[in-house]
Amino acid sequence: MKVVTFFMSKGGTGKTSFNIMFASYLTYILGRRVLVLDVDFPEYNLYFYREREKDDYLSKDKELPENIYPIEQVQNVSENHIRNVVSNLKRLDGAVDYVIVDFPGSFTSSDAICRFIEEEALDMVVMPVEVDGMVMSSARSMAKVFKETGVKCMVFLNRVDYRQNESRYANVGEWFDSEGVTFSRNRVKGAAVLTKDMKDNGFVRSSLCFPMKKIMRENPGVVGLFEEVVRYVEMGEQDSFEPDR
Ligand SMILES: Nc1ncnc2c1ncn2[C@@H]1O[C@H](COP(=O)(O)OP(=O)(O)OP(=O)(O)O)[C@@H](O)[C@H]1O
Ligand SMILES: [Mg+2]
Repeated sequence: MKVVTFFMSKGGTGKTSFNIMFASYLTYILGRRVLVLDVDFPEYNLYFYREREKDDYLSKDKELPENIYPIEQVQNVSENHIRNVVSNLKRLDGAVDYVIVDFPGSFTSSDAICRFIEEEALDMVVMPVEVDGMVMSSARSMAKVFKETGVKCMVFLNRVDYRQNESRYANVGEWFDSEGVTFSRNRVKGAAVLTKDMKDNGFVRSSLCFPMKKIMRENPGVVGLFEEVVRYVEMGEQDSFEPDR
């Protein structure tokens, strides 16, 4: 069982959108058994998103997929409760392939993600960043903490704008490389299709489907990134990871 989170210590970077899409990719494309935990008190965007999606499906008389993955809302985020959640998670090993956790965008010692790290319950953190000195510096500092605590970590560029000069993005990759931070060359475009909610069938950011063809056509970086994350998190202990070039 692997525990993975798309996480960044800043709000609005894409954590929840990518946690949903990755859980859907694992379930509906790779056929993995997935559990999602929403620890993002008090907003619980992911949990409520699923509720709205279900209502939307049912109001259109559409049947829910059979293999829909559970999304658990962790309502009590006190230290002790999170420790209990983590020890219960460990018992799921063998019954579940992936646990995807949506955390709030903050990284202090009282945050739930720190309990997961302390209890050695987190396998990989994937960090969405933008071209911004402060965001990049935060990502570097966190990557250092994850490395020291044995958590795999990878950074990728989200909301890429191809009208910008290519060197702007190439420099970011070179900077993370020089800082010893694993950086994905799979970039995710800033695209309206990622923000569209349940208006039509086959929307991209969905917990009930993963429209692979549509995503490959409109934002291939998403699938490239997910393939890379799976390759990294599932590789053997002895292997060293080579990011896509
Ligand atoms: N590549 C992208 N293109 C367009 N919009 C995006 C992209 N990535 C994220 N967004 C949008 O940015 C907004 C914030 O994303 P999201 O809620 O996933 O971030 P978050 O990090 O979980 O935020 P919070 O810190 O509030 O939990 C959403 O409206 C989402 O649709
Ligand atoms: Mg969120």
